[in-house]
Amino acid sequence: MSTGYETLSYDDLVAEQATVQAETDRGRTLDEYDSLVFPDQQYCPLRGSAVSDFARPLTDGEGPVTLDAILRGMSEAQPGRPIRWVDMGGGRGLAMRQLRSAPDVDSRLEMTNVDLFDHGFAGIKPTRLERLEALAPGITGSESKPKLIVDNVETVILSEPADLITSIEGIQYLDDPLRTLSNWYNQLIDNGVMFVATDDTWPDWIRYKGERNNDEYRDTPIKHLLEELSENGINYAVTNYSDDESGGRPPLDLRSFRKLAIQKKPGTLLKVTQPVTKVELDRSNYKYVHYEASADGSSPIVEVVGPKSYTATLGATTLQAMN
Ligand SMILES: C[S@@+](CC[C@H](N)C(=O)[O-])C[C@H]1O[C@@H](n2cnc3c(N)ncnc32)[C@H](O)[C@@H]1O
Repeated sequence: MSTGYETLSYDDLVAEQATVQAETDRGRTLDEYDSLVFPDQQYCPLRGSAVSDFARPLTDGEGPVTLDAILRGMSEAQPGRPIRWVDMGGGRGLAMRQLRSAPDVDSRLEMTNVDLFDHGFAGIKPTRLERLEALAPGITGSESKPKLIVDNVETVILSEPADLITSIEGIQYLDDPLRTLSNWYNQLIDNGVMFVATDDTWPDWIRYKGERNNDEYRDTPIKHLLEELSENGINYAVTNYSDDESGGRPPLDLRSFRKLAIQKKPGTLLKVTQPVTKVELDRSNYKYVHYEASADGSSPIVEVVGPKSYTATLGATTLQAMN
């Protein structure tokens, strides 16, 4: 595929993100992750959302939908082996550290943070560290650190497929978000789940070539991706805001939302068909990414491959070929 656009080399990406991420916190706790993915679960009664509803059957109970409840539910459904949670762009790894500081965790979970940097606790004030320790004793200890893969989340190849992949406040920094989402999907186990969440809407930063950022924008690559998922019977949910107090669900707009959940349909892979043509950094250091539209507009920008043509065994070579 000819790209017409040269993506950053790994070294240039690291140099760019070293500057960009110095201005971000990179230190969300598990509770902060939960409220970003499953908004307004702290209310009584709980406020629902499409993404929370999607995730509830995966949890181990009737309480709030949380990542911990999902991981416990996954453990119950698959006893005898640890559940693999991979956090893409996990920053300081605090969410995983918080969970890991609980006693029984290592026997049931394998947690991996994939990030360009080993951020550690550099730059965190001692008072914040004290607050973190008060929240979860042991959270700052070296024994609570999750496994870290220092790599680009866009192209990382995991040694084993994941049960759960999360990306919290990370998608807006990527040069090729469609290829990245496909890479993550392709490395889920059958029926595994991925959650991509930010505080601001992110799909409207992903455009077709030549489209401007205005309220009149037309269809977007992410909308087309989701339509392709629907056509192939792949479960997903998107949420912008949680339900209102009376349980009313805000109207759905596939072009603009904050939270996305996708469940891997057994035997399927995603394949991007179009190259990136331009990436622009805005004042918040978020990336506007433009994709080439398909020549005649007929082929999907992300294709579901399989199940018939699914021959991959999740080996690195096959995955690289798919991506
Ligand atoms: C805003 S921080 C969010 C960190 C964490 N998820 C949180 O919410 O606290 C974004 C993280 O993504 C990482 N990151 C950005 N681009 C990346 C890439 N291409 N590959 C791996 N990590 C990346 C940054 O180093 C940073 O840790």
